[in-house]
Amino acid sequence: MKELSLHILDIAQNSIVAGAKKIGITIDEDTELDILTIELSDDGKGMKPEVVAKVIDPYTTSRTTRKVGLGLPLLNDACKNTGGKLHIESELGKGTKVIATLGLNHIDRQPLGDITGVVVMLIAANPNIRFVYTHIKNKNEFVLDTNEVNEILEGIPINTPEVGKMLKEMISSNLEEL
Ligand SMILES: Nc1ncnc2c1ncn2[C@@H]1O[C@H](COP(=O)(O)OP(=O)(O)OP(=O)(O)O)[C@@H](O)[C@H]1O
Ligand SMILES: [Mg+2]
Repeated sequence: MKELSLHILDIAQNSIVAGAKKIGITIDEDTELDILTIELSDDGKGMKPEVVAKVIDPYTTSRTTRKVGLGLPLLNDACKNTGGKLHIESELGKGTKVIATLGLNHIDRQPLGDITGVVVMLIAANPNIRFVYTHIKNKNEFVLDTNEVNEILEGIPINTPEVGKMLKEMISSNLEEL
């Protein structure tokens, strides 16, 4: 994987598979601390402590089609390559939080990529999941909560192409202003 937005897509997929009804995606670009933090939280089924302890190891997976789970190990590599790390907190029956820290200006840090496209894709593909996307740049923040979007839409489905286009424009222009 070459872009962090694709890692985010992959990690969010884990939350979806875990039955999450709410997924939080928070990106914090802190130039002062020179740290990029990416946090994904969900209220899915969670993991046992022994699974959490092993999950960064590429030989841990609950997939049946392929033995090796790669989502978390690959993100772990992307973090470590920049002097950062991957941290996972999970509680069985409650949910999971994946916190990735990366060296913001490190030469090996992957670019964020098309985060707008990934967020809109996740929303459109999972209209029944509440997504809360927060993007912070040096204390300025932008929050997109699909519960609020749905209120404004007054019954228009959130996964129509028109709404997707509107969301893309809204996210892009807000990110530009951060
Ligand atoms: N948010 C989550 N909630 C519950 N379990 C999780 C979550 N994220 C990961 N897991 C568990 O950790 C395992 C490893 O996840 P990882 O993304 O690394 O690999 P994978 O999803 O199994 O395979 P791949 O991502 O390569 O398709 C998963 O199979 C799942 O059992
Ligand atoms: Mg995965």
